[in-house]
Amino acid sequence: MSFDEMDVDTIWMDGEFVDWDDAQIHVLTHGLHYGTGVFEGARCYDTAEGPALFRWEEHVERLFQSAKPYDMEIDYTPEELTEATLELIRRQNLRSCYIRPIVFYGYNSLGVGPKDCPTQIAIAVWPWGAYLGEEALEKGIDVMVSSWRKHSSSQIPTNAKTTGLYVNSLLAGEEARRNGYAEAIVLNKEGNVAEGPGENIFLVRDGEVYTPGLSESILDGITRNTAITLARELGYTVHDNVSISRGELNTADELFFTGSAAEVTPIRKVDNVVIGDGSRGPITESIQSRFFEVVEREVDTHEEWFTYV
Ligand SMILES: Cc1ncc(COP(=O)(O)O)c(C=O)c1O
Repeated sequence: MSFDEMDVDTIWMDGEFVDWDDAQIHVLTHGLHYGTGVFEGARCYDTAEGPALFRWEEHVERLFQSAKPYDMEIDYTPEELTEATLELIRRQNLRSCYIRPIVFYGYNSLGVGPKDCPTQIAIAVWPWGAYLGEEALEKGIDVMVSSWRKHSSSQIPTNAKTTGLYVNSLLAGEEARRNGYAEAIVLNKEGNVAEGPGENIFLVRDGEVYTPGLSESILDGITRNTAITLARELGYTVHDNVSISRGELNTADELFFTGSAAEVTPIRKVDNVVIGDGSRGPITESIQSRFFEVVEREVDTHEEWFTYV
């Protein structure tokens, strides 16, 4: 659905609530030319206790951390960003939505060094259902291993959620879709499994759960952390600091993606090789259903993960 079809009208930009159509930037904005922005993607769920931001504090913390390598000063406190976000959701009467804060170097000059370019900030919220489709959550998706490799963390901080990094995600994701797949899996420079273009990846083998470690050039996903926590609470052994080779994808019993947008999405085929029995596997299903019970507050755990609107 395009923004024009959505019932949203307000964006918070540089400290002000502005009309959606007035949230504009100059064409010579530094971030547009060089990808010098950092951003977040979080969700507000319509919970049994009312609309609530999920793991918002961690998202804000990661936004500040992402800004660090680029010397970007964020002129607002985490509390101010939280208040702006809650107010945006209230003003637009949203029960559930996606939340996109972005911080970027603005307009002043266009040397690659952002000297004297101001740091600008905006937060937008809009309704966004299942990222890879409702059916994907239940049936799983077919993916391909991309011919594009992920940047190495020695080339660019892959643990910072930087706008410029996402050209790599675009290349991988679009290559997959051109070839008839729903999404890509991206290998790192060493040829190990890193993650999806906008998701972390998990593998299940012999009843245990594996996910690439943080040194595999991945984003330290907040849903990754949620899935690890919930899987352990469900009694599964989780190995969260491993390298996974490409071949292990094919011999996995189950595979799934995690992400704030993708939530917990099963993978049924990789490069047309059927994973397990080609449907959502039992361990994926138990972690996924626990995830939705928790985010919708159908169970009374992890109160600390919620910020109520
Ligand atoms: C490259 C990449 N990896 C992993 C993730 C998942 O991170 P999170 O669960 O914090 O949304 C995302 C999404 O933000 C991403 O863009």
